[in-house]
Amino acid sequence: MDRIIINGPCRLEGEVEIAGAKNAIVAILPAAMLVDGICRIENVPQISDVENICNILIAMGAKVNRADGKTLEVDCSGVRSSEVPYEYARKFRASYYFLGALLGRFGKATVALPGGCHLGARPIDQHIKAFEQLGASVEIAHGNVECYAEKLVADGIYLDMVSVGATINAMLAATKAEGLTVIENVAKEPHIVDVANFLNSMGANIRGAGTDVIKVQGVGRLQGGTYAVIPDQIEAGTYMAAAAATGGRVLVKNIIPKHMECITAKLEEMGVSIIEYDDSILVDATAPLKKANIKTMPYPGFPTDMQPQMCTVMLRAEGTSKINEGIWDSRFKYTEELIRMGAEIAVAGKIATVEGGRQLLGAPVRACDLRAGAAMVIAGLMAKGTTTIEEIDHIRRGYERIVEKFASLGADIRLVLD
Ligand code: EPU
Repeated sequence: MDRIIINGPCRLEGEVEIAGAKNAIVAILPAAMLVDGICRIENVPQISDVENICNILIAMGAKVNRADGKTLEVDCSGVRSSEVPYEYARKFRASYYFLGALLGRFGKATVALPGGCHLGARPIDQHIKAFEQLGASVEIAHGNVECYAEKLVADGIYLDMVSVGATINAMLAATKAEGLTVIENVAKEPHIVDVANFLNSMGANIRGAGTDVIKVQGVGRLQGGTYAVIPDQIEAGTYMAAAAATGGRVLVKNIIPKHMECITAKLEEMGVSIIEYDDSILVDATAPLKKANIKTMPYPGFPTDMQPQMCTVMLRAEGTSKINEGIWDSRFKYTEELIRMGAEIAVAGKIATVEGGRQLLGAPVRACDLRAGAAMVIAGLMAKGTTTIEEIDHIRRGYERIVEKFASLGADIRLVLD
């Protein structure tokens, strides 16, 4: 089994370059299905989620050309199928974006239901509500979600809860609906704005992304063009947290500091010194850290996808910190692995109480999911001795060259392939 081996402890020092945003590209690539022409997409992260989506696109008849390491040219004009089979869909959750994109393009879509995951129940009722509101009929049968619409017609869509996926899916389908769709109570994450900007740069008419209300005026046709994906807020946050947890000093480059504010503010509260530049942030965590409490919330609140990494920072801080998980039912499984490394963490429902100031000891651990995996890497850097991380495919889904990046910051870390 492939694994990551870390010999700690270490203090990270140096510079790291952040890749394009995973949660933007996993929507932008399916969105290319709506475009007649070649989409040249720049700043694409080299992660396995991208490979999986490209394989789906190719299997459906699209042409995908990697122009260089970070640039993809995608031409979906040859696609005739409106179906994403289970063998492809099961490999990553965001396959649900093909529902909105294919429904918009063909008036029909069949996508295998994404499986469960380690974060708890992941319903898609709000995605379905949005499609139905636009005139589609939606059925769940044989493990597939099947959508069909004679014609998509604009309407008001009020989401019952703030959902990243439902917001993006509603935008995708509404882009091709006749008339003006008004989507209310939408998510405001930077990647929502990025997907809207991508669609607009191809000829869509979407306004309000980044606010609570998005208005989509349907258009007949989207043409090709060039678009650069925004930097990954969570990858950047992960390196900031790693610097903080190891008492390091790291310049995190190629980022949008505004997107980092929810994370920057919490680290500063804990005693980390942060200097913002135009497109980078210097994190200096050489001083002792103070305890803090976080509650995860939709953007601009503290992101749930930074919760496990932030827990490692709390392990270094003096005193007792608390985490209140406000998005997912079950996002504390990774704490069991940290406890095996000597951490003192008590979980009760959606609240974790983290005792700081304990020295972690290296141990064999697993990456329960993507962000949990990132937390294991940080914990391995903090711990005395050898940490071996298994099930690292989760990490490869969303972190580009993580071993090389941490090694360049001074970590004794290596990838072992079996
Ligand atoms: N929800 C519903 N019904 C729905 C949709 C969502 O009840 O139809 C609930 C969920 O169960 C959850 C909450 O609403 O409690 C928020 O879910 P959301 O739809 O916003 O999550 P998502 O779109 O499935 C994306 C990210 C996740 C990230 C969440 C929250 C992608 C591909 N995934 O998931 O990222 O945790 O938003 O910010 O964008 C990760 O990158 O590690 C990751 C898990």
